[in-house]
Amino acid sequence: MSKKIVITGGAGFIGSHVVRRFVKQYSSYQIFNLDALTYAGNLENLKDIESAPNYTFIKGDITDEKFINELFEEQKFDSVIHLAAESHVDRSIVDPLAFAKTNILGTMVLLNAFKNLWQDNWSGKRFYHVSTDEVYGSLGNTGLFTESTSYDPNSPYSASKASSDHFVRAYGETYGMPYVISNCSNNYGPNHFPEKLIPLFINNIINNKALPVYGDGLFTRDWLYVKDHAVAIDLAFHKGNNSETYNIGGFNEWTNIDLVKLLCGLMDDKLQRPTGTSEKLITYVKDRPGHDLRYAIDASKINRELGWKPSVTFEEGLEKTINWFLENKDWLNNVTSGSYKEYYSNQYDKK
Ligand code: NAD
Ligand code: DAU
Repeated sequence: MSKKIVITGGAGFIGSHVVRRFVKQYSSYQIFNLDALTYAGNLENLKDIESAPNYTFIKGDITDEKFINELFEEQKFDSVIHLAAESHVDRSIVDPLAFAKTNILGTMVLLNAFKNLWQDNWSGKRFYHVSTDEVYGSLGNTGLFTESTSYDPNSPYSASKASSDHFVRAYGETYGMPYVISNCSNNYGPNHFPEKLIPLFINNIINNKALPVYGDGLFTRDWLYVKDHAVAIDLAFHKGNNSETYNIGGFNEWTNIDLVKLLCGLMDDKLQRPTGTSEKLITYVKDRPGHDLRYAIDASKINRELGWKPSVTFEEGLEKTINWFLENKDWLNNVTSGSYKEYYSNQYDKK
């Protein structure tokens, strides 16, 4: 079946993997990548598919109501896969309003444009909202987030994502909009912007810079290889039931410090440096305010109902990721020039 799908945030980390997957898997679909190209958006991520006949890039801001309404009216997209967001917790602590604007208002602008188009006949339409496990707040040392865990967000980022989830659900309840939400754990992999833990530390190890571990390093995250997330989104988009939430996770919990030590060992091998070289760069720094202790996803629903499970182990995924960064030094150099330096200095050097 032919479909006209707009994927928002397609020039970002996860979005670029989702766009590539849809463009390659579904040649009969028309895939539109709508992205404002903020600091996190990068068309280099999609060089290999930029001239595919079923792919179109549109530069635009999801908070620009007039532009979005006109675009939807003109293109009559039958589905939205919504990833565009401000996504970094540390930045949300510095500038929470920017997160409310893009993540809440931007989502509402898209929902409204979609509703205005199809509210008289929703048949065959779908709004797919990509969200995060951070909406559930923090776990103690035990337990897992399920789809029925109550929302309890702690950072401006997670509060803005929780709010956007609520609006998606509300459009489903109020206007009958067909929707699916997925809440995923920490992704890692190629094209990950080097402000997040894994790519930041890979870049710092390459450059012999300090590895700033927040607090005592005993915070726990569940890591998933980004291409496995893209597969899960594909499955839930096509086979998921309307009005459902699917939790997506890697069944792969690591404390930050154990993960950093694993990464240091792998990097020493790859860079042919003596064992222990990278670990010496570990520096404990002031903790992130409101830092969630532990996230862990119970992904049994998507496994049971849609047959999804991660395809690579963490060791395999980390090795692929490190190889990608070492083979794509130009990409890394391009994204760490310019405004990145100012961000880095404000976030790390001044503390
Ligand atoms: P990212 O920061 O790498 O990319 C975000 C993209 O959105 C960029 O291309 C940026 O240019 C675009 N964008 C930002 N503001 C925009 C606006 N106003 N209009 C149009 N485009 C805009 O983010 P990511 O890590 O790829 O995350 C993508 C989505 O997945 C987000 O919604 C995030 O909340 C969610 N998520 C991320 C993770 C993760 O580990 N990274 C995990 C679970 C869920
Ligand atoms: O859980 C899903 C979320 O994962 C996504 O919704 C977010 O978009 C994504 O950024 C990510 O959020 P985290 O805050 O968990 O990711 P981050 O890479 O920023 O941090 C991972 C852990 O590492 C966290 O406990 C904080 C810690 N950390 C991070 C940085 C950047 C450090 O110790 N030092 C650092 O310099």
